[in-house]
Amino acid sequence: MLADFLAGWAAGGAGLLIGHPLDTVKARLQTMNAYSGILDCFTKTLRNESVGGLYKGMLVPFLSAGAQHSLIFLAYGGALKLLHPGESNVDARKDLPMREILLASICGTMLQLGPAIPIEMVKTKLQVQRENATLARKDQLLYRGPVDCLFKTYQYNGFMGLFKGGQVMFYRDNIGFLFYLPVYEGLLRLFRKNDLDNAAFQMLAGGIAGSTSWFSICPLEVLKKIEFRRIKYMRRSTCGNWREKFDEKKGSRPFIEAVWPLPNMWSLTPLLLTLGVAVALENGLARTPPMGWMSWTAFYCELNCTKYPTGCINERLYMDMADRLASDGYREAGYVSVHVDDCWMERNRDGAGVLVADRERFPSGMQALAQYTHTRGLKFGIYEDYGTLTCGGYPGSYGYLKIDAQTFANWEVDYLKLDGCNINLDLMPIGYPQMERELNATGRPIVYSCSWPAYLIDHPHLVNYHVIGKSCNLWRNFDDINSSWKSIQSIINYYDHNQDKHIPTHGPGRWHDPDMLVIGNKGITVDMSIAQMTIWCIWSAPLIMSNDLRIIGKEFREILLNREAIAIDQDPLGVMGRLVANTTDIGVYVKPITPTAGSRTSFAIGILNRNITNAKTVEVVLWTLGLKDEAGYRVKDVWEKSDLGILKPSDKLRTQVNPTGAALFRAELVNQAPSPDRPFFFGDVPNDAFFRPGRVFNERKLSGNYNPYAFSNEY
Ligand code: GLA
Repeated sequence: MLADFLAGWAAGGAGLLIGHPLDTVKARLQTMNAYSGILDCFTKTLRNESVGGLYKGMLVPFLSAGAQHSLIFLAYGGALKLLHPGESNVDARKDLPMREILLASICGTMLQLGPAIPIEMVKTKLQVQRENATLARKDQLLYRGPVDCLFKTYQYNGFMGLFKGGQVMFYRDNIGFLFYLPVYEGLLRLFRKNDLDNAAFQMLAGGIAGSTSWFSICPLEVLKKIEFRRIKYMRRSTCGNWREKFDEKKGSRPFIEAVWPLPNMWSLTPLLLTLGVAVALENGLARTPPMGWMSWTAFYCELNCTKYPTGCINERLYMDMADRLASDGYREAGYVSVHVDDCWMERNRDGAGVLVADRERFPSGMQALAQYTHTRGLKFGIYEDYGTLTCGGYPGSYGYLKIDAQTFANWEVDYLKLDGCNINLDLMPIGYPQMERELNATGRPIVYSCSWPAYLIDHPHLVNYHVIGKSCNLWRNFDDINSSWKSIQSIINYYDHNQDKHIPTHGPGRWHDPDMLVIGNKGITVDMSIAQMTIWCIWSAPLIMSNDLRIIGKEFREILLNREAIAIDQDPLGVMGRLVANTTDIGVYVKPITPTAGSRTSFAIGILNRNITNAKTVEVVLWTLGLKDEAGYRVKDVWEKSDLGILKPSDKLRTQVNPTGAALFRAELVNQAPSPDRPFFFGDVPNDAFFRPGRVFNERKLSGNYNPYAFSNEY
């Protein structure tokens, strides 16, 4: 709400600086007959009164427009918060029903009306008090300034005189805001749907919303000025004034005259408001966690193609993997990208500063490789580093962000992993958002993966995922994975410990990336593979494999291709599941998924056994995990591929979990009839008190030693 308040203030104040001169022209055209048109009014005012003339009456709204807009957005944001007490993620606003946007914008209108009526009146009186633009002498003016105007109005017309014209303002603002915010939010949704969620379209939405709203209120705006201005009209009713104005020779002209200076405050304010926030907003990509194949953890920086012809970083490797993705069922299951990692470049840029792919290992060049993947229905990802050099010592993007972004776009790259080696940490908050802007500027949709927070692991206070999420579609935040249980376990521990920080900042378009799937590699058993896949799917984590798809065992391939597990990962809600119960060996995770009914959701349940030698029997009563829907849940065991039938909240889920293994269940709402309560949205989940560890730990019914805060370190 504070953000709403401040953004409203900034937008109001800034909008006025540009908008006020136009507003003055508009006010004069509406109320005086001294000008033949906009330009005439503009030049005459400038000539006779210099620039100050255009800023007449500006002091009051300048001080107050900020406050006014603050009130509007304060009440707007506040009303939405009241309707959704659980919301923590401001972006969830985009999922709200239109009727709520409407209701909230009416609240905003009402709150600002109180101060707005006298302020508008003073402003208008000052703007138009010079009936004839040739009168320039101060002593011929009615009011010396805003305070004088306020005082005189009070003196002549009493306290209620300050609110003359208020009735029209009431209609005007309610009608105006009926269009303003709903049109803005509605257009954003439309643009988002069409993947046009960028700064330019945000501004367009703001501009259209302002203009639509202006068109809708223009006649009332004219009427308002009459009521403010003429004492004789003030005794009439609003309708009487309207009739009178029509009766004047000009007919309806005055009502449409004011349409012309369209780029006025009403249009500029939302434009500027959006300009402020739009510089770093999402690109509309990666609505579900990215899935694909990446070379690093399986092939690292192997350059010796003579010794390892099928295991070195060359174009053949990526072509082979593209072939496998396309022919072995991975693509259909959702693994749609081939990602080149480090060590693909020549050691030097070319004469124009452009990156060059290693001429021996990538003789066809990167664009050809991108096209090879595209013709197989796949996307193409590339690796760079924000620093002076990549982690492997190849040329980094520092000083070349623009050129590199354009190069990648020219090569038809669809995804960029931007690493963070060899750069001063202080530069990260500058460089990563800058690259996002450079990528956007190319006009090519490129998913943007940042390693920014991974390099700040020792400075957690510098990591603000809300900020990172504004620039990056996904981000690494912990150590590199390797093909060992110890590594998988350490990532899970890190994520468990930081779940309160991670969960609210994770969702469509902005994902925490715990690093690659190492399933199918030497050192990783079937149980470990099931464990990694289970937890990654519970987290809605990117599923990017790093293995050798040419020789992978069938049992591992089946784990990777398990459609039920993938559906949990790719669930459109995009919620990161939470560890809700924990013992030394066992961790139980719960993740809200679709189908939903109102605020009720289905769930995925993951149970991890960290013990490396003993299988564990786990018994858990559904309601203790937050599965409280009375009609119960249809429960399926994802790995066993069995149907456990319908379980009620008081029923126990019982399962045996292998050492270093996991179980995964899908519990779908039985009663999916829409409930009368408010709809589910992303912000609900992290704030639901039931998911707070403390409560659940106290109510847990798990076998094993109870130690709520023990995050096992035994691998
Ligand atoms: C870093 C990244 C890895 C990999 C290497 C390449 O360590 O975290 O994923 O890209 O760099 O050098």
